[in-house]
Amino acid sequence: MNKIGVIFDLDGVIVDTAKYHFLAWKDLADELGFEFTEKHNELLKGVSRVRSLEILLDIGNVELSETKKQDYLISKNEVYLGYITKMGPDEILPGANALLNTLDALGIQYVLGSASKNAPLILKQVGLYERFTGIVDGNSVSQAKPDPEVFLIGAEKLGLAPENCIVFEDAIAGVEAANSANMTSVGIGDEDILHEADFNFNNLTEIPSDFFLKVISEKILKNDEPGLYKTK
Ligand code: BG6
Ligand code: MG
Repeated sequence: MNKIGVIFDLDGVIVDTAKYHFLAWKDLADELGFEFTEKHNELLKGVSRVRSLEILLDIGNVELSETKKQDYLISKNEVYLGYITKMGPDEILPGANALLNTLDALGIQYVLGSASKNAPLILKQVGLYERFTGIVDGNSVSQAKPDPEVFLIGAEKLGLAPENCIVFEDAIAGVEAANSANMTSVGIGDEDILHEADFNFNNLTEIPSDFFLKVISEKILKNDEPGLYKTK
């Protein structure tokens, strides 16, 4: 079946790496002498490493030279790498493997669309790298989410028009990127935060097994029947 394709965000959708980003950024905030909380960390989800540092420095009201910023970007990533190089398949989030199996069974292809420059390493660590038809990561884009570039390149890799792509995202910036790319957006996580998504689920285990067939009939084939799952 080649009518639709899926683009997955990585951090927070396939694996729970937000906790490792948090610990690595918190190390830096501690060194710079200000408090950085899990609530602050929400602001960093989905945004690039460089932008994350800018947001962090704003939170701490700290100004740094460009050279210092570059040093901290490197040291933050070294701390983060210390965590992710210990990851294994047990850190794949619940429902992710089953969802990929469903897509394989339906013959629906999927690619990765992540802001992370570490995405290929993480996928290899958890043993999922080979399953994706293509990988679009922080190294492949010039514009970070909420710019739709990452997902538009993903659609090209799938050989599909953007409107035939479904994006799974846990970050507001990612949902906005999917919406502005004219794709179907699926928010994974808190609906209050991700209310701009076309569909919302708390996690991947909640995706009904016939979800993709329903999306094809409701969105792609523009069936007029009232939607079963469409939440808005
Ligand atoms: C995103 C994360 O997937 O990747 C962000 O949600 C992170 O929190 C961004 O800043 C960049 O990641 P990396 O691995 O390139 O530092
Ligand atoms: Mg994410």
